[in-house]
Amino acid sequence: MKPTFRTAVLLSLGLLLGPALHAQKAAPRSATSTTIADDPKMQRFIDELMSKMTLEEKIGQLNLITVGFDVTGPVVSKDVDANIRKGLVGGVFNTYTPVAARKLQEMAIKESRLHIPLIFGYDVIHGHRTIFPIPLGLSATWDMAAVERSARVAAEESAADGLHWVFSPMVDIARDPRWGRIAEGGGEDPYLGSELARAMVRGYQGPGNDLTKNNTVMACLKHFALYGAAEAGRDYNTTDMSLARMYNEYLPPYKAAVEAGVGSVMSSFNDINGVPATGNKWLLTDLLRRQWGFKGFVATDYTAINEMVNHGVGNDAQVSAMALNAGADQDMVGEVFLKNLAQNLKDGTVTQETIDQACRRVLEGKYKLGLFKDPYRGVSEKRAKATLMKKEFLDDARDVARKSFVLLKNDNNALPLKKAGTIALVGPLATRQRDLIGSWSGAGDWKQAVSVEQGIRNVAGSSVKIVTAQGANFTDDALLVERLNAYSGDIVPDKRPAEEMIREAVLAAQGADVVVAVVGESQGMTGEAASRADIGLPAPQLELLKALKKTGKPLVVVLMNGRPLTLNWEQQNADAILETWFAGTQGGNAIADVLFGAYNPSGKLTATFPQSVGQVPLYYNHKMTGRPFDAADPKERLAKYKSRYLDISNEPLYPFGYGLSYTSFSFSKPELSSATISPGSGLDVKVTIKNTGNFDGEEVAQLYLRDVAGSVSRPVRELKGFQKVMLKKGESRTLTFHVSPDDLKFYNNDLQWVAEPGEFQIFIGPNSRDTQQASFKLVDGQAAN
Ligand code: BGC
Repeated sequence: MKPTFRTAVLLSLGLLLGPALHAQKAAPRSATSTTIADDPKMQRFIDELMSKMTLEEKIGQLNLITVGFDVTGPVVSKDVDANIRKGLVGGVFNTYTPVAARKLQEMAIKESRLHIPLIFGYDVIHGHRTIFPIPLGLSATWDMAAVERSARVAAEESAADGLHWVFSPMVDIARDPRWGRIAEGGGEDPYLGSELARAMVRGYQGPGNDLTKNNTVMACLKHFALYGAAEAGRDYNTTDMSLARMYNEYLPPYKAAVEAGVGSVMSSFNDINGVPATGNKWLLTDLLRRQWGFKGFVATDYTAINEMVNHGVGNDAQVSAMALNAGADQDMVGEVFLKNLAQNLKDGTVTQETIDQACRRVLEGKYKLGLFKDPYRGVSEKRAKATLMKKEFLDDARDVARKSFVLLKNDNNALPLKKAGTIALVGPLATRQRDLIGSWSGAGDWKQAVSVEQGIRNVAGSSVKIVTAQGANFTDDALLVERLNAYSGDIVPDKRPAEEMIREAVLAAQGADVVVAVVGESQGMTGEAASRADIGLPAPQLELLKALKKTGKPLVVVLMNGRPLTLNWEQQNADAILETWFAGTQGGNAIADVLFGAYNPSGKLTATFPQSVGQVPLYYNHKMTGRPFDAADPKERLAKYKSRYLDISNEPLYPFGYGLSYTSFSFSKPELSSATISPGSGLDVKVTIKNTGNFDGEEVAQLYLRDVAGSVSRPVRELKGFQKVMLKKGESRTLTFHVSPDDLKFYNNDLQWVAEPGEFQIFIGPNSRDTQQASFKLVDGQAAN
């Protein structure tokens, strides 16, 4: 469901000026876009086409409409049909299948005056029909080949299903777990986020970004920009930040996707320092196109132009001109361009040249996809049948899901479980299928998702006896259930009193050898418009865990959720905790693989888990204060004038990069090839990792850097490299990381991209906290380029 827009009062356009922006003195590394926007053949083709187009038809290309999901009923409304025939629609989304896509495309090709093909988009976010883990889970694999594979499978399936364009990757850095959309991205870190962005673009657009290949889809980078920094974690809220913070901490993943050749960008809902992103010329033109060299087209988010009226920057006509002039090319759903641009042109608030430019960019997108040659891109029911959810894709989904799980605790070797005895399988998520595929799983069929119960049966067979009991409802907040059900209608609370449900679960536990409690959030509790002020386990589920604990049976908590949660009781009392996010179509099988040790968990957190929501925003790469508090120093126990809380410590519950394994690993002290680095040189860091436990397993070696003293205060550490390695038990391996002068650079307050001489510390370890240290110096002055 989508927000509606209200008309609002006309407010002063003075607001549009936004903050005074520093001139950027040194351009960042130039974009190496691999698109074919400068292709003269394409330009000639589009010149000729545009020479025949009326103003109305050009504006039509800027109109992106939604046509509803139901492809078995009336696919499109009458108006839509008429508008397509009149050439007033450039693209459609929310419809798929070869039959539906062909039907609409035929309408455009055969019945519109210039036969311009439509572009078909869709929210393919973590898989199309075969659903992979939610993006936060994908990021926890720290395995870029796996992430790329998930996007490749999504591209193969969506292309076979009549789609050309996916509204992904979502690369918004998020440091606030209250924000429900943290589930849709890669977490808090700009370096990891950039790697993820590149991997996803590669996966969707294929090698060399050759979108004419029928098994590729155009990616859409979103939400540009800074949507994840919404104040107080409340969706759609304001963002306000310094340019240096933007450039260093929030913009890198977007830039990485542009450099990887992403074909399109979606402008975000939020305002940035007072100017809505969708009408923000600095953002959409100066930064995106001039500085980064982006060559594709920009679509707005859903009714984002209309919403600029609510933001208070103008009336309908004014926001129409503002968005187009800023660099928004296609208007998603709002039809503001359709209604206003002709008049805007008459009034002189937009120029013909600007309309032409937007139209050209949309047409270029279609050309790059080969739509003018084959508007159907080879779709057929036969191809769809052979492609969608084929065995190979389901196997990929299972494998990637296993890699995404993070073992948060495992005392007394509670895991892996033996394939023997009785398991009490309890909790509201133990038998559920719908939640496994998570939010934004549009074309995914939850009925094909493997539940945890089914997965355990598949993996352990009859050697294990399973006794199930729901034990608790998701929540006892009736209004919350009503809200969630208003959109997906999938929560049916058990009407029994809570005590009775708990009693049943306790009984099951008493008769079992181990309790596996599958608890967490329902899928609707994360995603868009799903912010939470309290990020703990909902009360009835925590009560259930407490009752189970009292049975004295080993307690294994399997979590499903789409954000960092506060899990203090759980950490203190459970024997094992396995974080499984929303793991996708093959979720239950993947969970069972890990529970029984067929796969040794290797995932690592990509967003810090706080102890309390009161610590938020809490992220590992923070700055130092002038009065840091050192919890490890006993003299500081009662120290007052320190940067600390009176009631809890500053530490997270689980730090960024954290995750356990069934085996253990040791790290040697890092050895540097040189004690100095100079501009133009680099150094190598060697570290030896040993598998010291009893299972084969994978470890992620993480390298962080700290610039000890700079012209501005620098983060306490920043991720600059990682390697995931598989080690057999007893095996050691020496890894080499290269540190280049570029790794030492940052944007200073004049937005110069510089490395400053002086001491740097290097940290290597299995997470951002438990690291070993070495240091080196950057010599020879500044290395600005
Ligand atoms: C979301 C986007 C999504 C779009 C189209 C919006 O509400 O913010 O992420 O791509 O809808 O469904």
